[in-house]
Parts: sequence; C-alpha cells; structure tokens
Amino acid sequence: MDRITLNPGRSAGVINRNIYGHFSEHLGRCIYGGIYVGEGSPIPNVNGMRADVVDALRAIQIPVLRWPGGCFADEYHWQDGIGPKADRRRMVNTNWGHVVEDNSFGTHEFMELCRQLGCAPYINANVGSGTVREMAEWVEYLNSPGDSTVVRRRWANGQKEPWGVRYWGVGNESWGCGGNMRPEYYADEYLRYQTFCRDYPGSKLYRIACGPGGGGDSWLRWTEVLMERAGRNMDALTLHHYSLTGPDWEHKGRALTFDKGEYYELLEHAAWMDNLIQRHGAIMDRFDPQRRVGLIVDEWGTWHQVEDGTNPGFLYQQNAMRDALVAAITLNIFNRHCDRVVMANLAQTVNVLQSVVLTDGDRMLLTPTWHVFDLYKAHQGAKQVDCFVETDRIGEGERRVDRISASASEKDGVLTLTVANCAMDEAAEVQVSLPRCGQANGRILTAPAHAFNDFDNSPVRAVAFDGVRAADGGLRLELPPCSVAAITIS
Ligand code: AHR
Repeated sequence: MDRITLNPGRSAGVINRNIYGHFSEHLGRCIYGGIYVGEGSPIPNVNGMRADVVDALRAIQIPVLRWPGGCFADEYHWQDGIGPKADRRRMVNTNWGHVVEDNSFGTHEFMELCRQLGCAPYINANVGSGTVREMAEWVEYLNSPGDSTVVRRRWANGQKEPWGVRYWGVGNESWGCGGNMRPEYYADEYLRYQTFCRDYPGSKLYRIACGPGGGGDSWLRWTEVLMERAGRNMDALTLHHYSLTGPDWEHKGRALTFDKGEYYELLEHAAWMDNLIQRHGAIMDRFDPQRRVGLIVDEWGTWHQVEDGTNPGFLYQQNAMRDALVAAITLNIFNRHCDRVVMANLAQTVNVLQSVVLTDGDRMLLTPTWHVFDLYKAHQGAKQVDCFVETDRIGEGERRVDRISASASEKDGVLTLTVANCAMDEAAEVQVSLPRCGQANGRILTAPAHAFNDFDNSPVRAVAFDGVRAADGGLRLELPPCSVAAITIS
C-alpha cells in the first residue's frame, strides 16, 4: 500500500494562482477560430470572442494568459495590430503554416479577451526582429496615463484609460526561434531592452527574462550567465519543457495510439520537470538566495504528432487520459515548488498541443486536461501543505515513474489533496495520514489511458469519488488505474 503523510504545520508558502496560467499564440486555430471569430460570426460571441470558450476558461478560473507567442512573438510588430481592421497590415505567419495573418486580433482584442476572462495579461515582446523603441512604446501604449503621440493613438483607438499590464516577457526562446543568441549576448540585450521599458504611474512592470529550454549543461550555463549578468534586473526567468515520446522531434509519438512503453515514457518525461526546477533552481539560489527572482514555466505540456489530415504547421493534437496524467503530475510538481515557481502557462489554450479546449466550427469540447485544471483549482492562492509520498517506481522497461503523484494545500480551513494513480492498468490503495480528519469529499477523473473526448461524445469527465473512507486516523483511498482525484477535507 502507498502512503501519503500530510503535515499542515509545514509549508513552502502560498501557491501562486498564476501557476494555473495558459498560453495562446498566433498559431494554427488557437487565436483565430479557437478564441476569436470576429463580431460578424454566426458562432455566438461577445465582441468577437467565442462565448463557449470564454465560459470554459472562466470555469477553471484562468488567472493569466500569455500572448502573442511563442516563436510568433519575435516576428510580431504590435503597431500592425491596432487601428481600423481594414487598414491593418497583412503578413505571412512563417513560423506556423505560412498562413496569412491579417492582424485582426491585436492589442485591443487581447485586452478585451483578458477582460472577459477576468485574467491578467502577460505580453511577450519582440526582441528577435524588433527594436528597443518598439517594445518601449508598446509598454507606453498600454500603460502610460500621460499625453504623448503614442498614448493619443490609444485614445483614438477607443481606450482612454491605460490598462496597466504588469507581466512583460523580453523575447521568447532567444536561444532558438527568438534569434539564436548566445547567453552572453541575450543577457546584454535583455538589460538594454528592460532599461527602456518604463514603470508608468500605477503600473510597475514585472520583467521576465528568457530562460532555458532543458536541463543539460548548455542549458544550465544559460541560467548561470543570465542570473550572473542580469539577475538583479529581472523579476523572473522562464523555463520551457515539453513532454513527448519517440526517438526525436521528427518521429514523435501520437496522442491517441501508444503502447504501454510510450505511456510510461510520456509520464517519465513530464516528471522530469521536477529535476529541471531543482537544477535551475539551485543555480538561481546561488545568485539569489532570497528567491526574489521567480521561475516561470511559460511553456509546458505534451507535444505529439499532429492529427492526420491537419496542417502540420498548426500543431493540432487530440488529448487523451494519458495527457491528463501529465497535467496532474506537472501541477503537483509546481505546487510543491511554489517557493520558486511563480507562474506557469500550459501550451496552448485551444486547438494547439495540450489544449484544455478543442473546437470544430461552432462545436467545442473540454479535454481530459481541462478536467484536471478544474479538479486542481482549489490550489490557486492556497497555502501549500507538506505532502510526503511513499510509493513505488513503476513502468515498462527503463521507463519509470512514481505510482502516486500528489500535492496538497489549505485555504479557509479546507485541506485539498490532489493525487494521481499513474499506473496504466492497476488500482492503488493509498493510506493518507493527517493530524485531524473531518469531513472528506472527493471528485475523480478516471478512464482508460487512451480514452478521449470528441465532438459527439465526451466520456472523460470528473465524477464524485466514492473510493474515500475514514481509516486508521486518516483516510484510505481506492484509486482506479489511470486516475486523478481531488479530495477536500474540512
Ligand atoms: O508552443 C509552440 C512553440 O514551442 C512556441 O512557439 C515556441 O516558443 C516553442 O518552441
């Protein structure tokens, strides 16, 4: 039997609600069709935003949304996306499928989306093909309460008050699609860019530097150089980590067809997140022992082969129960590292990679991953509670993961334990020890690893969990194979 010991007296701190954030890029059908359909669309919308998608994201209490990329960010010029739509510049989205980008979704539309979602905007600015002035003026356009030519353009476009956008990313993957820079060069560029991004009255910026994309020596060096040269001038450093199967990026595994080895391979890859946070966190600690600088995992999730018959540049993939396990494992890791991880953004919100929502014309479905975010939402802003897990390593061949993944938090006197049984086809019995045990209720998401929701039928959904009972001064959980549960104890 596996054991979980909860110790409410010990905590790593508050779980920043931004850990439950999302990422939306001008990529495939994420923005266009997935989020934004335009005011004239027959699909029900509010100011052009799909009402069904906004409702689905509000239901999981989306706290923050990153935009406009990704790789797209370093080719995006914000002035192209403001003013009358008919006059907006057209471009070809060379990163993603070479489709025409008509810039009908720009700064004002993104701010309207965030207003409808009730979430914070996180804007990733262009360093790769942009200029310092361009970024500085974007900040001014959004945040300045003054009277300047830039601000007057905002007024002319219908927005009198500044929006006060706090989160600003300076370049994306500047070691790759964002400019193929060396860490020394990027650190200098970062310092120059952030210098001219001003704090306007009432809008103190939270400056986010581009961090590593892995855990090997060159990635550790990236973190070291950035922290040493620019650590004092940043509020956070990013980390990107995608989970995939297969020998290399060109031969990735698929979302819905996989064998047991690939099941465990994907979960093992996801669990590697813990290692990445520890490795990069240790370097950050050397330069920043007070942990003033946050770690932002602003791209994470599963990356499978695109679905047959879809544009390879659109990165459209289905989402199975196996992906839900990836989300559960990863969010448990972020919760446990809440003393360093201050934000995370699942890639990507709608119709791209590990989405929480998929759309097809006017139809929409909630993926198994959406249900994990729903089960975990009580952790947002709660005090993390020490959660000690004694479990076995399980898997297939060399591919191994902990059978049980868990994290816990406390808010308003209610303890929330989220726990996943990662075994593909074996149930698990878990003894939960805790100092006091009151009323316990649970919800569970469980289905065969290959199960998924489609537009006609959504069999994967959370239901009441009847496998919780009081035992030995704590709780006993009967977790079906491949399951994710949330238990609240009041
Ligand atoms: O999320 C898809 C892409 O993955 C992003 O544009 C890029 O930042 C990363 O490589």
